[in-house]
Amino acid sequence: MWEQGINISDVREIRTRVNLFFGVGAINKIDEIAMSLKGQGIHNLLVVTGRGSYKISGAWPVVSEALRKHGIGWELYDQVTSNPNVDQVDAAAALGRKNKAQAVIAIGGGSPIDTGKSAAILLKYPDEDARSLYTFKFVPTEAVPIVAINLTHGTGTEVNRFAVATIPEKEYKPAIAYDCIYPSYAIDDPALMTGLSEWQTRLVSIDAVNHVIEAATTTVASPYSIMLAKETIQLVHRYLPLAIADLDNLEARYFLAYAAMLGGIAFDNSLLHYTHALEHPLSGIKPDLSHGLGLAMLLPAVIKNIYPMKPQILAGILKAILPGLKGVPAEADDVAVGVEKWLFESGVRSKLVDEGFTEADIPKLVNLTFTTPSLSGLLGVAPTEASHKVVEQIFRDSLYPLSK
Ligand SMILES: [Fe+2]
Repeated sequence: MWEQGINISDVREIRTRVNLFFGVGAINKIDEIAMSLKGQGIHNLLVVTGRGSYKISGAWPVVSEALRKHGIGWELYDQVTSNPNVDQVDAAAALGRKNKAQAVIAIGGGSPIDTGKSAAILLKYPDEDARSLYTFKFVPTEAVPIVAINLTHGTGTEVNRFAVATIPEKEYKPAIAYDCIYPSYAIDDPALMTGLSEWQTRLVSIDAVNHVIEAATTTVASPYSIMLAKETIQLVHRYLPLAIADLDNLEARYFLAYAAMLGGIAFDNSLLHYTHALEHPLSGIKPDLSHGLGLAMLLPAVIKNIYPMKPQILAGILKAILPGLKGVPAEADDVAVGVEKWLFESGVRSKLVDEGFTEADIPKLVNLTFTTPSLSGLLGVAPTEASHKVVEQIFRDSLYPLSK
C-alpha cells in the first residue's frame, strides 16, 4: 500500500494541462493564484458557485480574503444548481459582462465549475449565448482565465476541457470540449470535501469510476487511460467504505479526490461512451436526478454489452472489485452482475423503475441519446456498434436489477 507513505498535508503541484494544487490545505494556494492573476492585469472577476457549499466548505473566507488582499474585485453568481442549465450560464455571463470580469473563479462540484467554464467562454463572445454554445452554433477558441476550486471528488472537471449544461425546453444535456476551457489553475483540497453527505460521497465516486471504465474501453483508449482506470478503481474500492464510515476521514477524502482527478485526466485523453451518453437523457428529462445515480443505474448493463469486446482490459481494471477474472468474453454476465452487486453494497441500489422511469419512456430516451447534440461523439467511440437496438437494450436492462 504505497498510500501509507504519503503525507496528505504536503500540498503538491500536479501539472497536467492544468496547474493543480493538490492536498490538505491547498486552498491557501489561492493567495499565489490571486497574485498571479493580478500580475496578469486582472482587477475584476466573476465568481461562479452554488447556493451554499462555497461557504459551508470553508473555501469562501480564504478566497475572498485573498482577492481583497490583492485588490481584485468580484461579482458573485451563486445560483448554480445541480444539472445546471443554459439560463444559469447566461445569467452568470451577464453578471460578468456587467462587471467587465476578466477571469472566472468557479467554486463547487461539477455544476458550478462547468457553469463557470461556459461563462468564461461567453465573456469572450459577447454576441453569443449559452444556447448557441451548447448547440454548436459557434466554435470558441478563447475564454477568460478560469480558476477551478473543486469541492467534490467525482467529476474531474477541474483538470479537463469538458463542460455540460442542460437546454431545458429540448431536454438536451449536451457536453462541450474545448482547449480554451482548461482551467489555468485548479485546487483539490480534501479538507473542503468532508461536508459531502454519505449519499453525495457515494455518487461522486461512482461518477469517477464510470469515467475510467469508459475511458479505458473507448476505441481511442490508450495504455495511459487504462493505467489511470486501474488506479482509480483500486483507490475508490479501498477508500469509499472508509469515507462512508467516517465522513471526516481526510486520508480517505484525499485518495478519493486523487482518484477522481485521475479519472478527469483519463477521459480528457480517451473520452467516454455509453454510460455518459445514456445518462444525459435521463437527467435531461429529470433535472433532479443526480448524475452519479443515473450512471450507477446504467453501468451494469453497459458492462454486459461491452465486456465481450474488451474482456482483458475490463478484467484488469476491475481486479480490485472482482478479483480472479479470466478476461474472457463468457464472463460478461457474471461481471455485470458482480459490478451491480458492488454498487448495491456501496449503498446505491436504485434502478430506472425506482427513479420513476418505465418501459414507456425507453423510445424517448433512445431518441434523445441520438438527437442530443454532442452525444453522437461519445457513441462513435463506443467499443461496440452503438445501434438504436443496442442503446435500447441497455436502457431496458437497466430498468430492473440484472441479478434476479
Ligand atoms: Fe461524469
